[in-house]
Amino acid sequence: MMSAVNAVKPESATDTLVKVSNLKKYFDTENGILKAVDDVSFHIERGETLGLVGESGCGKTTVGRTITRLYEPTGGAMFFDGVDIFKTHESDLKPFRSKAQMIFQDPYASLNPRMTVGDIIGEPLDIHKLARGQERTDRIFELLDLVGLNREHANRYPHEFSGGQRQRIGVARALAVSPSFIICDEPISALDVSIQAQVVNMLEDLQNRFGLTYLFIAHDLSMVKHISNRVAVMYLGKIVETAFSNELYDHPMHPYTKALLSAIPIPDPAVERQRTRIILEGDVPSPINPPPGCRFKTRCSEVMDICHAQEPLLKDVGGKHQVACHRA
Ligand SMILES: Nc1ncnc2c1ncn2[C@@H]1O[C@H](COP(=O)(O)OP(=O)(O)OP(=O)(O)O)[C@@H](O)[C@H]1O
Ligand SMILES: [Mg+2]
Repeated sequence: MMSAVNAVKPESATDTLVKVSNLKKYFDTENGILKAVDDVSFHIERGETLGLVGESGCGKTTVGRTITRLYEPTGGAMFFDGVDIFKTHESDLKPFRSKAQMIFQDPYASLNPRMTVGDIIGEPLDIHKLARGQERTDRIFELLDLVGLNREHANRYPHEFSGGQRQRIGVARALAVSPSFIICDEPISALDVSIQAQVVNMLEDLQNRFGLTYLFIAHDLSMVKHISNRVAVMYLGKIVETAFSNELYDHPMHPYTKALLSAIPIPDPAVERQRTRIILEGDVPSPINPPPGCRFKTRCSEVMDICHAQEPLLKDVGGKHQVACHRA
């Protein structure tokens, strides 16, 4: 029995576990104030996966690190299971820290190379005083088993493993404290394509088994399509579009989402030949002094006069689909 793991699958996905409102995270830099996350709101239902997608530097990791209070927020609110996490005193954050875990893009950099795999997975058990002695050993074996590794692996070191196996070790460590919410920060981007699907399948199995709620971060829409119930697209510190996954893929409305989608190759060569690619030119502008009006206007193929003057706000277009574009 997985006694120490939250094995109860939620009966319905209609109750909100994570609610983020008007989140801001600014960094003071030599060149001015860098608005990494600028007024972002979203919620995640219990047992649901929200995909968070956008190019490098748009603020995805900063969202993850701020809502788990690894960074102090500049503004906004984060409710977890009804508790106001930004108003909770650091000394009272321990229950939240065991319920919300993060797994990272580079499983090698995030695993201490001088610790055995057993101790890497056992460390959170020690910190949260969850198991000692034989119980600790058994729990480590149970966690290795859950992520498709075996007990012989406990005495080895991270460098003895492949990228995919190292990511499994990171997942086992995150699961050690029986979390209900896991932020998966580009967990498959550094892996070979052949291994990516295995890790995604494992994450989905674990989600079903333990009723986990995921924020799944990626820069590529194709990676989040299958795992996400809903997707939020980020551009330069803001969410520009959010919808249920199928709706977003079938009816993208923001020119940025359309461009991201058109970058995904279609396996059928006949279809692939006929469709038009939207090429995104230039890089994301700096989040220090972002352009006034719409932040995407410098790269947008559908730009209008109003886009220079007025910032488009997220608006409902029906079916829980929201988009921040003057054309919508
Ligand atoms: N600790 C920090 N101090 C100053 N600036 C930071 C810090 N962390 C992030 N930034 C800046 O905030 C912006 C958002 O960074 P973030 O890492 O959140 O992007 P990301 O979407 O996760 O990108 P990637 O896909 O490359 O991981 C970037 O401009 C980055 O340089
Ligand atoms: Mg990142």
